[in-house]
Amino acid sequence: MADDDADDGVERAGGIEVRPMSGHTGAEIGGVELAKPLDDAAAAAIRSALLRWKVVFFRGQHLDHDGHLAVARRFGEPIALPRRGGYSPAEHPEIETTADRLELGGRFGMDRAEWLDRRRHTLLRGWHCDHGARIDPPAATILRAETVPPYGGDTCWSNLAAAYAGLSEPLRHFVDGLRAEHRQGVGYEPRPGEDAYVRHLLEHQTASHHPLVRVHPESGERLLFVNGYYVQRILGLTQAESAPLLELLVEQAVRPEYTVRFRWRPGDVAFWDNRATVHLAPSDTGRLDHPRIMHRVMLAGEVPVGVDGTPSEPVTGTEAGRW
Ligand SMILES: [Fe+2]
Repeated sequence: MADDDADDGVERAGGIEVRPMSGHTGAEIGGVELAKPLDDAAAAAIRSALLRWKVVFFRGQHLDHDGHLAVARRFGEPIALPRRGGYSPAEHPEIETTADRLELGGRFGMDRAEWLDRRRHTLLRGWHCDHGARIDPPAATILRAETVPPYGGDTCWSNLAAAYAGLSEPLRHFVDGLRAEHRQGVGYEPRPGEDAYVRHLLEHQTASHHPLVRVHPESGERLLFVNGYYVQRILGLTQAESAPLLELLVEQAVRPEYTVRFRWRPGDVAFWDNRATVHLAPSDTGRLDHPRIMHRVMLAGEVPVGVDGTPSEPVTGTEAGRW
């Protein structure tokens, strides 16, 4: 059977090679140079692999900012961000440099340890989709590695379609009709006295009511729309009912069989469907002296729709399309 290509799971289409990395999630794409214009067949094959595997990886591409944006524009509309930190390139408002994340605590008067400590109220807190409290969370994120540590700093993704499908039928039926409040700053423990971050949260409140099960606008798949970061509570349930059910659903969403873990090398690119996945930013680099510099471009998304066809509703600070 060694000669039979069908058995290694690798698929070839549009001149590219798609190599699955786990049973449900992640595929490495070969045979493509992202710095060159993508022809229609290759772009269609990449989109199809993204829909199937939820996150796709391209090794050793070494894109510059313009090249990164050109790839993003091939698959959607890059979001220009009104607020970024000092490390992001001033001339490219669509690119956010992750070294900014390290600045974040400092902006609100905290060192990194305190910043993380005040924001971690559950064990699965780090798992999130990007900007999930918005009424229209980004459709996708394209992240490229410039400098990575020699070890540590991996990123994990989990497949929310597989997680939904893995629930028992009665529980799927139960959660199909529920909605949840997603809010920025959930679980943050304020500092005593004046707290600059609380002031920031109040001035930039973002909250939406999203379906607990979202229908993917392209594939039609049902997605378990939960994470450990933004979800405040399930609507219509008491807190005593909501908290343990949310815990169960988030645990389900990130079970190891639905995840993939990526070991970054400089020049690598990860492209994920931000509707169909949650991801875990690495937290094992805090005591390493090695820099980790990544650049991120997000693609504009749409208002989520539930199983019954009802769209999400804005609560505050979440006018669709406005950042
Ligand atoms: Fe993220």
